[in-house]
Amino acid sequence: MVKEEHHYYSKYPDSQLKVFTISESLRRHLFLFKTTTGIFSFRKIDLGTKILIENMTIPEKKSILLDLGCGYGPIGIVLGYYSHDSEIYFIDSNKRAIWCTKENVKLNLPELKNNMHIFSGDYFESLKNKDIKFDIIYMNPPLRKGKKEFFEIFDVLPFYLKKGGLFEFVIRKKMGAPHVYKYLLDKFKNKIKVKCKRSGFWIFQYSFV
Ligand SMILES: C[S@@+](CC[C@H](N)C(=O)[O-])C[C@H]1O[C@@H](n2cnc3c(N)ncnc32)[C@H](O)[C@@H]1O
Repeated sequence: MVKEEHHYYSKYPDSQLKVFTISESLRRHLFLFKTTTGIFSFRKIDLGTKILIENMTIPEKKSILLDLGCGYGPIGIVLGYYSHDSEIYFIDSNKRAIWCTKENVKLNLPELKNNMHIFSGDYFESLKNKDIKFDIIYMNPPLRKGKKEFFEIFDVLPFYLKKGGLFEFVIRKKMGAPHVYKYLLDKFKNKIKVKCKRSGFWIFQYSFV
């Protein structure tokens, strides 16, 4: 029998379960995160995620925000901390990641838990029957699954972004950021821009106009 390979994006990781607590200072506040084996970057926050968090747009006014492919939830939890009145949605297909996100909301934002909406599932699948559009969607995409799957997200963005909404994401130069930029620039022209480049990571911003 061929053993199925398991990755950080497996729905049900089968590695031995171990729980960790990691701490990270993000936008000048110290956060604690529970992580487990079998999820993305469980020993230390990923550098790309950190650079996205440090440079992402955080709305001052009440907004509806989505951390897409949330892992243990660092992007959405920082958003919740700094954009108090906003409704934050988290989605991931990995069940352990979703467990961690729920724990991390309790740990970091206990008073805001009613504004935090956590869904287990395939990208926008769990929002299919909800009438919801976001002001900003954020993502550190699972490019190990291939760029095709990532590019397909752009096909459904018009259904989930408000007019004037943004999609902000990070890609490592070595993982093909210049190629992604060229592809998206050909397709979307001035709707796509590189907000900044830091330590080999490019932060992108797509505007839905
Ligand atoms: C590169 S990791 C980023 C995780 C987290 N946002 C962070 O920055 O630490 C990508 C995440 O996307 C999730 N993912 C992969 N395919 C997915 C899918 N089809 N639907 C939802 N989430 C998915 C993975 O489980 C993983 O947690």
